[in-house]
Amino acid sequence: MIKIGVITASDKGARGERVDLSGDLIKQLVVQIGGEVTAYSVLPDDQATLAAQLRIYADELNLDLVFTTGGTGFSPRDVTPEATLAVVERLTPGIPEVMRQESLKKTPKAMLSRAVAGIRGRTLIVNLPGSPKAVAECLEAIFPALPHGIEILQGQATECART
Ligand code: MTE
Repeated sequence: MIKIGVITASDKGARGERVDLSGDLIKQLVVQIGGEVTAYSVLPDDQATLAAQLRIYADELNLDLVFTTGGTGFSPRDVTPEATLAVVERLTPGIPEVMRQESLKKTPKAMLSRAVAGIRGRTLIVNLPGSPKAVAECLEAIFPALPHGIEILQGQATECART
């Protein structure tokens, strides 16, 4: 089982003024890759708060994978990528590349997501945009390769099978 954390970055969500549909959707969709969401937080769009929670998820909860949703756009309050960049040790650019590449086939607005992804310790952190539609489209794009990447990160697979 892949142990997954979800952090929803939303000022309104954190104030209880918005139901977190995207977080719920991630919980449902990760079943497709044998994942289970074991930690979940709705936090304000504050870089230090988001970075602190990412560190806890990686260093204390030892999660395999953390998805953030929201806060990747151009609003002055959108700081999820900056919080992520502050905590990751190695970038995994292929993941956001594929998300934007596939998402652009659905909407030109996909270019407006500044999502990043990277590795802290043995935890992979992936930013997703905020809307449920975007979450579904981005996860569909990256799911085919994600379990293999996590296996390698956890040391459970050392080689890529040559087929
Ligand atoms: N990606 C996909 N696949 N589908 C979408 O509908 N919406 C875009 C983009 N990425 C979208 C998408 C829009 S409208 C914005 S503003 C950015 O994600 C940033 O969203 P966020 O600020 O909620 O993270």
